[in-house]
Amino acid sequence: MDFLGSEQHKIINGDAIKVLKEFIDDNSIDLIFIDPPYNIGKNFNGHKDKWDKDEDYLEWCYEWLKLCIAKLKSNGSLYVMTSTQFMPYFDIFLRDKINILSRIVWYYDSSGVQAKNYFGSLYEPILYCVKDSNNYKFNSKDILVEAKTGAQRKLIDYRKNPPQIYNSEKVPGNVWEFPRVRYRMDEYENHPTQKPIALLERIIKASSDEGDIVLDPFSGAFTTAFVAKQLHRKSISIELQEDYIKIGLRRLGLSDEYKGVKLEKELKTYELQKINKSQYRLFETNYGTYLHKENQGNSRETL
Ligand SMILES: C[S@@+](CC[C@H](N)C(=O)[O-])C[C@H]1O[C@@H](n2cnc3c(N)ncnc32)[C@H](O)[C@@H]1O
Repeated sequence: MDFLGSEQHKIINGDAIKVLKEFIDDNSIDLIFIDPPYNIGKNFNGHKDKWDKDEDYLEWCYEWLKLCIAKLKSNGSLYVMTSTQFMPYFDIFLRDKINILSRIVWYYDSSGVQAKNYFGSLYEPILYCVKDSNNYKFNSKDILVEAKTGAQRKLIDYRKNPPQIYNSEKVPGNVWEFPRVRYRMDEYENHPTQKPIALLERIIKASSDEGDIVLDPFSGAFTTAFVAKQLHRKSISIELQEDYIKIGLRRLGLSDEYKGVKLEKELKTYELQKINKSQYRLFETNYGTYLHKENQGNSRETL
């Protein structure tokens, strides 16, 4: 286990259950966002996200779910994701332990063919839960979206006396449309299940205030902590894979080196192609792909 990051943005390289049990105080966290392995066979840096039996996966999930509930403050909120096939189990497990206020669908369109012989999956489910349904934060004003009836169609509500134009903004419903993170997007990191900044912005704005502590036990590309920092919240991030810890340290601007190696964002293939190959040479290491400018003589300059 390795403790990194800063006082405001803690990063722990270790196993989520162990860290939650041993290093996070009960009743200490304002908001928890949980995006665990989905048990669908994704490859997390060589570690397969697939348990031998579904029961084993669920048992593992139930253990960290119970721990996360214990870590939440009495007015805290918890958002949890998993694959469509396992979310019903989470829902049934959680409903007598915490208040499930919304069952959210994160919908995204896909230009590619998802499936030819059945209806392809174009959404991921999210449960939004609070510990106390009479005392929780929900900053509705910070997450308003356009209400088309008022904003675009400018309709008048004649049931009101005097008649009034419909509101131009509203609190979003439980179907959220955000594009998935694509390779060409600026926010893209080299992680197979990176969540969009926009998704985390809505969650963190709605369910926490400046200075609050946001915990992410499966941090991946550190989207939660990145957004928490931008929104002036504190963060605690747990992640098992060292390579993803390096993304976190760089993405949060906490360090520009790790164990003596410079942390740099990998160049994308189209960025590399743009560069005149006769003048530059690609140099691949375990830590990423770098460009070296071949100077006169033997000297090289890293870009
Ligand atoms: C679905 S991804 C999270 C993606 C993240 N929300 C993002 O936006 O990039 C799940 C992450 O959990 C990590 N992980 C898997 N098992 C873990 C464990 N036992 N403890 C901590 N992290 C773990 C994986 O390495 C992976 O990066």
